[in-house]
Amino acid sequence: MDLYEYQARDLFEAHGVPVPAGIVATTPAEAADAASRLGTPVMVVKAQVKTGGRGKAGGVKVVKSPEAAREAAEKILGMDIKGHVVRAVMVAEGIDIAEEYYFSLLVDRAERNWLAMCSVQGGMDIETLAAEHPEALARVSVDPRTGLDAAKAAEVVAAAGFRAEDRAKVADVLVRLGEVFVAEDATLVEVNPLVKTREGRIVAADGKVSLDAHAGFRHPDHAALADTTAADPLELAAAERDLNYVKLDGVVGVIGNGAGLVMSTLDVVAAAGADLPGSPSPANFLDIGGGASAQVMADGLAIILSDPQVRSVFVNVFGGITACDKVANGIKQALTMLGERATRPIVVRLDGNAVEEGRAILTELNHPQIRLADTMDEGARMAAELAVETPASGREA
Ligand SMILES: Nc1ncnc2c1ncn2[C@@H]1O[C@H](COP(=O)(O)OP(=O)(O)O)[C@@H](O)[C@H]1O
Ligand SMILES: [Mg+2]
Repeated sequence: MDLYEYQARDLFEAHGVPVPAGIVATTPAEAADAASRLGTPVMVVKAQVKTGGRGKAGGVKVVKSPEAAREAAEKILGMDIKGHVVRAVMVAEGIDIAEEYYFSLLVDRAERNWLAMCSVQGGMDIETLAAEHPEALARVSVDPRTGLDAAKAAEVVAAAGFRAEDRAKVADVLVRLGEVFVAEDATLVEVNPLVKTREGRIVAADGKVSLDAHAGFRHPDHAALADTTAADPLELAAAERDLNYVKLDGVVGVIGNGAGLVMSTLDVVAAAGADLPGSPSPANFLDIGGGASAQVMADGLAIILSDPQVRSVFVNVFGGITACDKVANGIKQALTMLGERATRPIVVRLDGNAVEEGRAILTELNHPQIRLADTMDEGARMAAELAVETPASGREA
């Protein structure tokens, strides 16, 4: 999960990294108010979008009064920066910048290690710096067992070529950034620019942080950082139920157990629909995982059936550790839970462990929406054909 700059700023502040004061605003009036509350002689109005290069795109403006902050916010709000529409700005304390540096700490998957990168030539984007001045970008591997401790930070600032008199101050800030990385379970902490002010203070003027979603259980407070305005509503509903769901743009809802099986099911459904009128294709990816309990099946079916684009559903389950009779009972209970909401035809293909028992349960159920398929290909074809035959809106059926 990538954070907005203002969220990174807040995390930095909480861990003792020096940052400019900053207040978020979503309207020009709020921006003017934020500027008066900051009360600094110079302010910077900054677009809050999850992409770099805001400065070059005109998304960072220096202002000297609340009225000027209002005008800058008027220009920046609604701006499109590399496909990201600006919905909020941060009004930040203006820093009197003497020098701009670069620093990042990240998980280096290829090296199975952490990597710190640092340069005394900051401000420009890191790809350009790495390409044009590779010698100016120090790369120091960091052992996750010790992290970015004082000794490692000293090594980084020496490698980056900081002047002797700045090294200790910069290293101290790097240690704190390393603490953010560990304490917050980040996969990236990047500061560009890390600046030296005219008074000689080291301040993180821009921050980019990616948090490891797999460590979310250790950080209940991270959930509040998720951006709920940008996501698809069905994907959000699925995420709330811990389902691995991705919305696609077709009409055949797909449920399976195991990511590999679901991905091949998407291919088979797309192939089966290719020659049919309207070329029905998958409406989603949904992996219900190994357990496939009744509740998970009900949640999955409910999400898929609440998608107005869905005209038919293909449930493709291979019984392994979870036997097919358990899965069939899950589907049965799911249909009971869904009741009237089971408005679309559902093709079920079961195979593997206890397949006979599973099929018997569904045959006996004799539910009007359930059809059984013997093979994955047959199920995909049936679901694609049913999608063609079924009218567009579930409410009409
Ligand atoms: N609080 C600030 N005070 C003064 N100048 C700033 C401030 N924040 C950013 N800047 C200037 O604007 C430039 C671009 O801002 P930055 O936050 O790095 O956005 P981006 O990386 O998206 O272009 C910085 O390199 C710095 O020169
Ligand atoms: Mg920047």
